[in-house]
Amino acid sequence: MNAKKAAADKAVELIQNGMTVGLGTGSTAYWAIHRIAERIKEEGLQLKAVSSSKNSEELALQLGIPIIPFAEVESIDMTIDGADEVDRDNHLIKGGGGALLREKIIASNSKRFVVIVDESKLVKTLGKFPLPIEIVPFAAELTIRRLEQLGCKPVIRKAEQSTFVTDNGNWIVDCHFDEIASPGALGDRIKTIPGVVEHGLFIQMAHTVVVGHADGTTSVI
Ligand code: 5RP
Repeated sequence: MNAKKAAADKAVELIQNGMTVGLGTGSTAYWAIHRIAERIKEEGLQLKAVSSSKNSEELALQLGIPIIPFAEVESIDMTIDGADEVDRDNHLIKGGGGALLREKIIASNSKRFVVIVDESKLVKTLGKFPLPIEIVPFAAELTIRRLEQLGCKPVIRKAEQSTFVTDNGNWIVDCHFDEIASPGALGDRIKTIPGVVEHGLFIQMAHTVVVGHADGTTSVI
């Protein structure tokens, strides 16, 4: 059994009729979107959804999940999304798929934020996974130099031969720290740099973390 699918299926059990649901982005969120679509078909579940990326929105619409524009969102009952790393203090690195800004907006406006990961994502200390930071392309070199001064090796994300562009028209810088000793303090410092739009540190935002294991079982943190 796919561990990511196991986590996704378990999390989707938490969704109840009438909810407005936030859809995440990535290969684990992919399974959650599929399971939500199945529940709509099997149980006639009435849902509204908002998406954290154009990719997830396209997938949801193909599968028959009703997507509403953000302007119509009053509140989001539950968001289900993946993560690149989860530490013991419930801090996350997100943004491997480049959707961190919309993901953070949706998660922070959700009554319940459910993170779905396979066990390889659980770490003692964040930072092995390069921290994605969304920046505006204007004067990117200056912004990147400021990020470097925080002690990381910043690398502009590429998509094939060109620069990766987010759904918001910005760039992603992947910052290699190796180890992030104080994620909260680092996040605060990054946010003071003009040119930074958002970073992928999600500090104690998850209400629930569902971990999928290779044998198909799950555990909930
Ligand atoms: C996208 C994300 C993803 O949730 C994160 O990269 C995990 O992806 P996957 O489920 O494919 O391992 O933050 O911006």
